[in-house]
Amino acid sequence: MKRHFHIITYGCQMNRYDSGALRTLLEERGHKWVEHPDNADFIVVNTCAVRQHAENRALSRLSMLASMKKKRKNLLVGIMGCVAQELGEEIVQKIPTIDFIVGTDKMAVVADIADGGVNGKIFTDIDKEFRGIDIPAHIEKGARSAFVTIMRGCDNFCSYCIVPYVRGRERSRSPQKIIAEIKNAVASGIVEITLLGQNVNSYRYDALDFPALLDKIAQISGLQRIRFVTNHPKDFSPKILDTVEKHADKIPPAFHLPLQSGSDKILAAMNRKYTFSQYLRTIEQIYRRFPDAAVTTDIIAGFPGENDDDYSATLAAIDKVRFAGIFAFRYSVRQGTAASHLEDNVPEEIKIARLNEIIRKGIHYAKTYSHNLIGTVQKVLLEGDAPKNPGFLRGIAPSGRIVLFPKNEFADKIVPVKIEKAGTWILWGKI
Ligand code: 5AD
Ligand code: SF4
Repeated sequence: MKRHFHIITYGCQMNRYDSGALRTLLEERGHKWVEHPDNADFIVVNTCAVRQHAENRALSRLSMLASMKKKRKNLLVGIMGCVAQELGEEIVQKIPTIDFIVGTDKMAVVADIADGGVNGKIFTDIDKEFRGIDIPAHIEKGARSAFVTIMRGCDNFCSYCIVPYVRGRERSRSPQKIIAEIKNAVASGIVEITLLGQNVNSYRYDALDFPALLDKIAQISGLQRIRFVTNHPKDFSPKILDTVEKHADKIPPAFHLPLQSGSDKILAAMNRKYTFSQYLRTIEQIYRRFPDAAVTTDIIAGFPGENDDDYSATLAAIDKVRFAGIFAFRYSVRQGTAASHLEDNVPEEIKIARLNEIIRKGIHYAKTYSHNLIGTVQKVLLEGDAPKNPGFLRGIAPSGRIVLFPKNEFADKIVPVKIEKAGTWILWGKI
């Protein structure tokens, strides 16, 4: 039976990539994508377990979808991804009518279920040898930018983090597969690739490490821009900066380096394996070589044991680094992690107050970064019409900032735009 399917995605870019790969796989098997879940008879929710809030959102959406099964007898509803891996059978207790529970990296199982070819409904064993799905992610018609996974899993076991438990051990994809996938994407009109991995800096395939892979990818003809996430500060080497410098026309100096906390005591309790001064040394190397680098980060507010001094150290760290963007989160206990055995002892209202101040500072420095671009000419990757600003085109600057500029029929894939005005995350200019 051919299905009409829809996939709902929560969480990180890796999840978006996985949903795209599943879409390609289901389409290859003759099933038909529909834009709205109301028109689907096969719905998959791809989930994120990194914080309780994300998990709750996905599960409540799932129960809502499962309740539609009463009226639509042939509808199948299932869950995949990190929450499925984390909770497994427990999900049946929460949502008894759910049709399937498929853990991480198992897009092929979901496709078999759509085909009607498997019995049973829980598939959550972690496949240690999995080296990435070899089906390229779905590329939207007219898209200029795409994700490509280079490695999966994580061996770092930061004490707050559930990822190593739900995504399993680190494994890298072969450079042949990565390069073939990128060449294919380029042939279908993609000019920008974002390389994905929980920690791209620990990519290794035989003797090939991440800087060497990046160097190979930068030589693919037709590919105009390369980004990569996420970097672990402890593994970030100057060799990467050499590669970025060598291919300055293709690899923008934009680095996402999650700091998490500015306090050495908290960093140790988080098992991050660097001190703030080591982190700062990396940042100084970056700024020395790329003065206008866009350095972005993640910060957790209210980790167990975080006192006023630790929190002040985080604020001071933000002032020192002057991040181009901060993603800040309230600490959320994740069952099974090392930190779940520590007392979650920062009161909720203090967590929220600290989070808000970090966000406020983050916006201040994001604005400062954007304002410093006024008067410069940015090479903007054209995406298309700006949906909310008729008469304007929308594109992405090397730093990752959105750029809006008046429509111009000569605009090609990458256009030089002189920046005249700046908000926090958006720049305005003219060709
Ligand atoms: N609580 C809050 N934030 C978390 N992150 C990961 N685990 C947790 C948690 N338990 C944040 C980290 C990470 C980002 C992707 O999510 O900052 O870098
Ligand atoms: Fe989680 Fe740390 Fe691995 Fe990042 S490096 S995925 S925060 S365990």
